[in-house]
Amino acid sequence: MTTLADMAVEVLTTADGRAKCALSRAHAAAWFAARAAGTPLPIGTAQPPLHPARPARPELLPPRDVPRRRPGSPQGRIALLHAVAHIELNAVDLHWDILARFGHVPMPLGFYDDWVKAADEESKHFGLICDCLESLGSHYGALPAHAGMWRAAEDTVDDLFGRLAVVPMVLEARGLDVTPGMIEIFRKAGVTQAIDALSVIYAEEVGHVAYGSKWFNWLCGRDGLDPKEQFHALVRHYFHGALKPPFNEEKRAEAGLPPDFYWPLAEQSDEPAAP
Ligand SMILES: [Fe+2]
Ligand SMILES: [Fe+2]
Repeated sequence: MTTLADMAVEVLTTADGRAKCALSRAHAAAWFAARAAGTPLPIGTAQPPLHPARPARPELLPPRDVPRRRPGSPQGRIALLHAVAHIELNAVDLHWDILARFGHVPMPLGFYDDWVKAADEESKHFGLICDCLESLGSHYGALPAHAGMWRAAEDTVDDLFGRLAVVPMVLEARGLDVTPGMIEIFRKAGVTQAIDALSVIYAEEVGHVAYGSKWFNWLCGRDGLDPKEQFHALVRHYFHGALKPPFNEEKRAEAGLPPDFYWPLAEQSDEPAAP
């Protein structure tokens, strides 16, 4: 019988972006159909690849070598969407990786539901942004992309606490901070399709951060650990650099991330004076 871990490895070893996302959505539908029928698929264990399969294009460059373009120009807006598509494709793999990588850690079924749903949504996000790129005469793979994005997965390959702290609670939370500014760029340019796609992403990403904080807190409770102290120690250990304000306090709160989790990890010069 197919296990969730097997399905995850199938997604991770599919290179083409659109094909990876189609498979991801089909597997998510199979998982939820089995759940609805009261016969959940077994979780299983598997050996996911250390690096997921990726298409030949885009070329992956160190962050400092990825050309920066001004978002005020059509080319700059294409570059911005291309970077978002790359983030979404990495996110698809990150969510399937957590399902495959930590299958040996006994977790409630809700843990798997949450990350399968997140993977399904990232797959939709990748498709929406690829559609935008194609409407603007470009495509995913046309520009170079950031090579460092899988680093968080590699660094936390044997630490579920660390994975949850760094991926949903730091990286995806950062998405909540920056997405309103991106939507504004496309509003000024009148690119409705991109506004709509980014608005879907903005709404659904709150859920991914919330899944992260929910399961991080759950694991800390299981082990009798203080979540805030654990979070600070893990982010300092695995995340390279300080967190960047301004933070989206409202959406972070909605996702269950209180200010005393992230402010102590922020660049100190930007910390607001105490009231
Ligand atoms: Fe996403
Ligand atoms: Fe996400």
